[in-house]
Amino acid sequence: MPLALVTGASAGIGFQLARQLAERGYDIVGVGASERVADLGARLQGVQGVQGVQGVQGVQVVPVQADLATAEGVDRVWAAVEDADRPLDVACLNAGRSLGGAFLDTDLDDELAMLALNVTGQVRLAKRVVRHMAPRRAGHLLVTTSCSALTPTPYESIYGPTRSFMLSFAEGLREEMREHGVVVTALLPGATATDFHRSAGMGATKFGSNDWKNDPALVARQGLEALFADQDHVVGGNRATQEDAARNRTLSDPVKAKEFARSSRPGPQRE
Ligand SMILES: NC(=O)c1ccc[n+]([C@@H]2O[C@H](COP(=O)([O-])OP(=O)(O)OC[C@H]3O[C@@H](n4cnc5c(N)ncnc54)[C@H](OP(=O)(O)O)[C@@H]3O)[C@@H](O)[C@H]2O)c1
Repeated sequence: MPLALVTGASAGIGFQLARQLAERGYDIVGVGASERVADLGARLQGVQGVQGVQGVQGVQVVPVQADLATAEGVDRVWAAVEDADRPLDVACLNAGRSLGGAFLDTDLDDELAMLALNVTGQVRLAKRVVRHMAPRRAGHLLVTTSCSALTPTPYESIYGPTRSFMLSFAEGLREEMREHGVVVTALLPGATATDFHRSAGMGATKFGSNDWKNDPALVARQGLEALFADQDHVVGGNRATQEDAARNRTLSDPVKAKEFARSSRPGPQRE
């Protein structure tokens, strides 16, 4: 069976990436930060009857609990890949988090820890992945960034730049890896119905409710289809999300910043 690595596999978009790769016949090395990754195999195989999720039988799932904000965490993940003792065919660098609130108020250590996960950890792991794939002249690397990469993100002021970094990194790396036979694709989800905004402390903003957001299964499917179709990037989400992303390519940064602040500023929505 081919092998896939998915970070952030215990929840949200990463869980759907892992499930859909399992459906495509991949064994999975799945990474999460907390203990909940331990039952990933059971969840993917439907043992616990996850609501709305069809189990995938016959796949081998290796759960890895690791903090990808640290070098040790990345080493632990890579050791699990090497333990599989076969080529890694697909890597989804997907784990990430945000932190909402006014920059005046947010905690600096928390922000630096987010940078360590969303940027430094991704680069560390990407280095391992491409050095493993390039000599084989084969492999697919999907980098989850965000539509937030296309706009200033006031009241989420460090998160957006981490996604811009990863988008630019993925597009550049894609060009380098082309001659080595490795495909690199960036996935830019729009707002998606996961734990993400709640974990970021954004419950009191427009992003607090999951009712209007994209289905993580749709976002993951679009990401994998783009990866296997060798596209440089794809926006993940419904038609409104696609239109918003296209619009964000044309508006000025000050206009986008004002619009974004209306949704991200804590408290009553402001005009
Ligand atoms: N949801 C959105 O609206 C949205 C929009 C655009 C882009 N994105 C991007 O999509 C990606 C996935 O987000 P999501 O919405 O699926 O989030 P999520 O539901 O909150 O899941 C986050 C995943 O990342 C893992 N994780 C968090 N911190 C980690 C750490 N320090 N080390 C290792 N793993 C860690 C979590 O593990 P535990 O479960 O153990 O904590 C979980 O598996 C992120 O990169 C995010 O930037 C999300």
